[in-house]
Amino acid sequence: MKSFTTLTLLLIAQGICMAQTPIYKNKKAPTESRVEDLLKRMTLDEKILQLNQGTVGDNNNPNNNGFKKPSFAEGIGSLIDFSADPAFRNSIQKRAMEETRLGIPILFGYDVIHGFRTVYPISLAQGCSFNTELVQQMCAVSAKETKLSGVDWTFSPMIDVARDPRWGRVSEGYGEDPYTNAMFGVASVRGYQGNQLDAPYSIAACLKHFVGYGMSEGGRDYHYADISPQSLWETYMVPYQAGIKAGAATVMSGFNDISGIPASANHYTLTEVLKNRWSHDGFVVSDWGSVEQLMAQGVAKDRKEAGLKAFMAGVDMDMEDDVYSQNLKQLITEKKIPMTRIDDAVKRVLRIKFRLGLFDSPYTPIVEQRYLQPESKVVAQQLAAESMVLLKNDQHILPITAATSKIALVGPLAKDQEDLLGNWHAHGEAADITTILDGLQKEFGQKVQFNYAKGCAFDGTDESLIAEAVEAARKSDIIIACIGEKAGWTGENTSRSTIALPAIQEKLIAELKKTGKPLVLILGNGRPLELMRLQPMADAILEMWQPGITAGDALASILSGRVNPSGKLDITFPLTTGQIPTYYDMRQAARPYSGKYQDIPTDPLYWFGYGLSYTNFNYAPIQLSSASIRKNQKLTATVEVKNTGATTGKEAVLWYISAPASSISRPMKELKYFEKKEIAAGTKIIYKFELDPIRDLSFPDADGKRHLEAGTFTLMAGDQKIKFELTD
Ligand code: GLC
Repeated sequence: MKSFTTLTLLLIAQGICMAQTPIYKNKKAPTESRVEDLLKRMTLDEKILQLNQGTVGDNNNPNNNGFKKPSFAEGIGSLIDFSADPAFRNSIQKRAMEETRLGIPILFGYDVIHGFRTVYPISLAQGCSFNTELVQQMCAVSAKETKLSGVDWTFSPMIDVARDPRWGRVSEGYGEDPYTNAMFGVASVRGYQGNQLDAPYSIAACLKHFVGYGMSEGGRDYHYADISPQSLWETYMVPYQAGIKAGAATVMSGFNDISGIPASANHYTLTEVLKNRWSHDGFVVSDWGSVEQLMAQGVAKDRKEAGLKAFMAGVDMDMEDDVYSQNLKQLITEKKIPMTRIDDAVKRVLRIKFRLGLFDSPYTPIVEQRYLQPESKVVAQQLAAESMVLLKNDQHILPITAATSKIALVGPLAKDQEDLLGNWHAHGEAADITTILDGLQKEFGQKVQFNYAKGCAFDGTDESLIAEAVEAARKSDIIIACIGEKAGWTGENTSRSTIALPAIQEKLIAELKKTGKPLVLILGNGRPLELMRLQPMADAILEMWQPGITAGDALASILSGRVNPSGKLDITFPLTTGQIPTYYDMRQAARPYSGKYQDIPTDPLYWFGYGLSYTNFNYAPIQLSSASIRKNQKLTATVEVKNTGATTGKEAVLWYISAPASSISRPMKELKYFEKKEIAAGTKIIYKFELDPIRDLSFPDADGKRHLEAGTFTLMAGDQKIKFELTD
């Protein structure tokens, strides 16, 4: 009897306790129940606060310093945290959890683009690896460093298709191809977010900058973007649709406008497509000040109108410019904004916070040894090496042979550190970088004497250092010249009128060439470069990009032949700036064999997909499961690739389609699948592509509806191509 009474009392006590604990604080309750319960408890002021983002720490983005000093209202929805100090972050979070009425946690965000403290290759380089598994792994490891630093949300991946390398932000995405950006965007989302957002090291991803930012006219950042509805769907929307399908938690609206309607005030893209058609149930954050900037873009007469337009278009959270905190309440009073829209936006923000587990685990565990861990460095070096692209290798001058005993190592990047981090390197530190000289000395040991000379600065007119470099070359067997760009020459607000390197660097190469010694160019850059004058002077060219902390190690592993280069360009290298835009999936010209430049060749120097290896890969004819398929049938294509050389290597097979005459003119060819495998010397491997006509052969119309038209298609891989019929 006694035990029964005790049990009864316990159950009653539990019942009372449950009744007193609000549903939103019950970690066992379904997320949507917690969202709804919390929402109905919130005042209008508390709701509006959730739709604002402030900053803490020292804002290191010079393009945004003028906007706002770091201060924020208690109970604010989100903070960009520049501090990398989890204890500092926890102190702020503690105030939000314990000193505000409802204890709603703050969402801490930051730009982790290619690493937090362990810096990996820039994204444009990552895309050249055509290894999405490795990039997913990198993002997962990077997310751990990020989470342990107090940041729950990264403003990454940037998946803006870019075809104008004058635009400095080309470095931040995965190149010119919609499918490549889509696949690496998906890999990044999966890496950052893991299988569930509330896992210990998962962080929320943010697809940016929705949409069409890469089309900024003339490559001038923040500028007008004229995008036809056809191009919008065929090119710029593709990566975002894939990223949303992969479960990206958030989206950032862009600075650009889309043919007159700013991306941050574009109801069609932000609400009709993103939220209604694609059913995105996370939230949209503006870019820094992009709400206020609607005035500059000529669509808002004042901040209040800017807030109205952005919010009603579908921007849920306002980054940094305080337009929402200062105007939403008035707009509600004036009945210009309905409470249903406020509640929709607040629920989206709360939903991501609940999914991240912030209500139940609001604090960051303090782990002192959280940076530069062995697992990070292994991934960093493998990805750096697989991102490098061998563009030229006359007489197989590379890899460097044992006969070489003296190497002239010259150029502004030869001993550089900071610039090999690339732009947006978060809390990366120059001292973490293995320089090229250090990496080579480690790799080649005492077998090689390195004669180092800087040769010249990145730019300027000082030729006084060239003689020393020429002298170093004269007393060496081979010249390795490391030239390229400073980290700050790409990234935000870094557009350049030319993609040629400064004349002083070309002058250095020309003087080195006169020595007659074998000349290897190593390029460290964040955009395609104009190599029209440099390319003929070089015996070999390796595109190193900006490889991050293992720069010297990864480069040395390739120069020594320990690693066989496997990168392929994810962006075309025009012959000159004047050829821009030139990209692989252009539409067919009306007169394909004329309409060319009269003063220079019309073809670019290196096409998308180009990259050499130290071995040779021979593609056998493509085999098809059928020569003809109906629209509801799949087609299996295989190609046998043989490594006919003496060096094992990795080969990424890129599968392209070319469409027949259609109801609209279509790109000359379109990448639809890629896969990378290692093939041992002398062996062969079968690559397979399961072609789905709806996914791979259809095209969107100007409102995104897919159309599939019968006809004779061509499937290509390597130097092989085959036709097949698609019938109704
Ligand atoms: C910047 C960039 C954006 C970044 C944001 C926060 O201006 O445009 O890519 O995520 O502001 O730093």
